[in-house]
Amino acid sequence: MLHTAEHGDCANEYPGQELLSIGQVSDRTGVARSALHYYEEIGLIAATRTAGNQRRFPRHLLRRISLITVGSKLGIPLSDIKRALAPVPMGKIPTENDWLRATEEWKKVLEARRRAIEELEDRLMGCIGCGCLSMQACSLLNPEDQLAHEGAGARRLETPGAVANESE
Ligand code: FES
Repeated sequence: MLHTAEHGDCANEYPGQELLSIGQVSDRTGVARSALHYYEEIGLIAATRTAGNQRRFPRHLLRRISLITVGSKLGIPLSDIKRALAPVPMGKIPTENDWLRATEEWKKVLEARRRAIEELEDRLMGCIGCGCLSMQACSLLNPEDQLAHEGAGARRLETPGAVANESE
């Protein structure tokens, strides 16, 4: 069912725009409803509500969601994706200038990602040749001796929080 802001409950927020239900957005983007809920929760996307408290998304958000999907597939943290998309308004149809500004932000995010991967690659190559797996000396297992404050003894390779952060 097609909703439009002229005749729907959301006319004040999105005048004249086509509004989509979460199911329609999920179908068109391939993004699970649960992920869309999460994106909304962290402010990556925004929805309005009908009088019956159902989410409605302006159609122009499909492009934004597609970019979020691409960024996620590249392993870019959602916090960085959010920063890159900051110039693109959600409450109105973005202009070409909005997208141009976002392009500049995406370049910065991708460049930072590229540098991080190259640095990781350098470290990994060194570790493959080394193989010591030392919690004190290995720059991959314990970068910049981050575990030193926990004292001597066995250490976890990853903390539960680190895993959660990576899956953002
Ligand atoms: S395995 Fe030895 S430094 Fe990483």
